[in-house]
Amino acid sequence: MASLLISNGTVVTAADTYTADIFIENERINAIGTNLKVQADCTIDATGKLVFPGGIDPHVHLDMPFMGTSSSDSYATGTQAALHGGTTTVIDFILQTQGKSLRSALEEWQGRSNGNCYSDYSFHLAVTDFNERTKPEIQEMVEKEGITSFKTFMAYKGALMIDDRQMIGLMEEVKRCGGLVTVHATHGDMIDYLIDKHRSEGKLSPLYHYLSQPEITESEASERFADMAYYTGVPAYIVHLTCEGALNHVRDATRRNQTVFVETCIQYLLLDASLYEKGFEGAKWVMSPPLRQKKDQDALWAGLNQGLVRVVATDHCPFTWEQKKMGEHDFSKIPNGHPAIEHRMELLFSEGVRTGKISLNKYVEVTSTNAAKIFGMFPRKGTLSIGADADIVIFDPNEKHTLSATTHHHNTDYSAYEGWEVTGKCKTVILRGRVAVDDGKMHLEKGYGQFLRRNKTSLIV
Ligand code: URP
Ligand code: ZN
Ligand code: ZN
Repeated sequence: MASLLISNGTVVTAADTYTADIFIENERINAIGTNLKVQADCTIDATGKLVFPGGIDPHVHLDMPFMGTSSSDSYATGTQAALHGGTTTVIDFILQTQGKSLRSALEEWQGRSNGNCYSDYSFHLAVTDFNERTKPEIQEMVEKEGITSFKTFMAYKGALMIDDRQMIGLMEEVKRCGGLVTVHATHGDMIDYLIDKHRSEGKLSPLYHYLSQPEITESEASERFADMAYYTGVPAYIVHLTCEGALNHVRDATRRNQTVFVETCIQYLLLDASLYEKGFEGAKWVMSPPLRQKKDQDALWAGLNQGLVRVVATDHCPFTWEQKKMGEHDFSKIPNGHPAIEHRMELLFSEGVRTGKISLNKYVEVTSTNAAKIFGMFPRKGTLSIGADADIVIFDPNEKHTLSATTHHHNTDYSAYEGWEVTGKCKTVILRGRVAVDDGKMHLEKGYGQFLRRNKTSLIV
């Protein structure tokens, strides 16, 4: 494996910002220092550039069967798009089919992903049917497969949702095995009631997707989940948290000395529910939970700085326009999700760091370091330190560009951010010591991305 020197960049981690050289050998960071005297096969001059750890997006859905179709990015296209946008590791979701084993779901997902990834990747395992047969599989997944996080859905009844009895049982078992429980926290029954009500009244446009999932459906479920996690003592993580009400319940949990990890997604920081007023075009942003209000964005930005919101992910779950049109006459049939895996790092830099809403070090923390720590990959991933995987972004903080479906690498024929002007660009992206992307060109081959067996969370809750 060739050695590589990145010289004279501004190195940024979650803790520090300083000028240094980074020397990479055998996939890992070998030395960091000023004016390193090393013989490298190749040198990249990073003068005037930021050099930070490769992004980790712990919430993506690639090639996932969902709502009568499949998300449109394969493991190959999705992980390429991730790398173009500075994300070097993704955590995807395996969905257990109700009535079947966790093992069979793992094998199904391995069949689609093995040998097809460009970036590194791992899996959360979504337990949709917890019973005496699936219970022993939890330990097997943690110890044999390195899958240490288990996803639960409090919504999507009849397909993915588990009830509270199953949730408690799962939490106890995951706690015993040293894992972590993550959740899609919304009140499934209340949402189903509102969907049925709106449909029966002939209210069928994307706006009613939004109106079927009011803030209370998320805040109630977030509190219930936090309570169950408190009782069982399991490390708990709420995915795609969108709103002030839900965040306040997490804040309340801290008052009894509980830690609940919170992830939000880039869209909830930047986009709002007014997009559902665009008629069927609003289908581009039909996702669950839906986009919210300005006051919720304010709460999420503050939550990042308060340390309550630890991770900014994407929930990348792309569909083509043809797929979105499955719900042209009924919002409840629009496949839920939007494409964003490529844009998270640049959008958050442009809209968060440049505007002064978050610091550069907080940026690294929420795009990479915290996810590595929470999901058992630190310090191999998530930071720039000696011995860590050389997953590195060389970033021009001043280059301006415009996001568009004509230039993105998502397998979708529209962009949820069409025309958005961004300042800051991922120029060179390095994965385990190899240049993955340079000036917009992919240099890796399919299958370079490795499956990551993960440890238990390294944060104490
Ligand atoms: O709309 C969404 N979020 N689609 C993907 C599935 C999920 O709930 O995360
Ligand atoms: Zn979800
Ligand atoms: Zn999701």
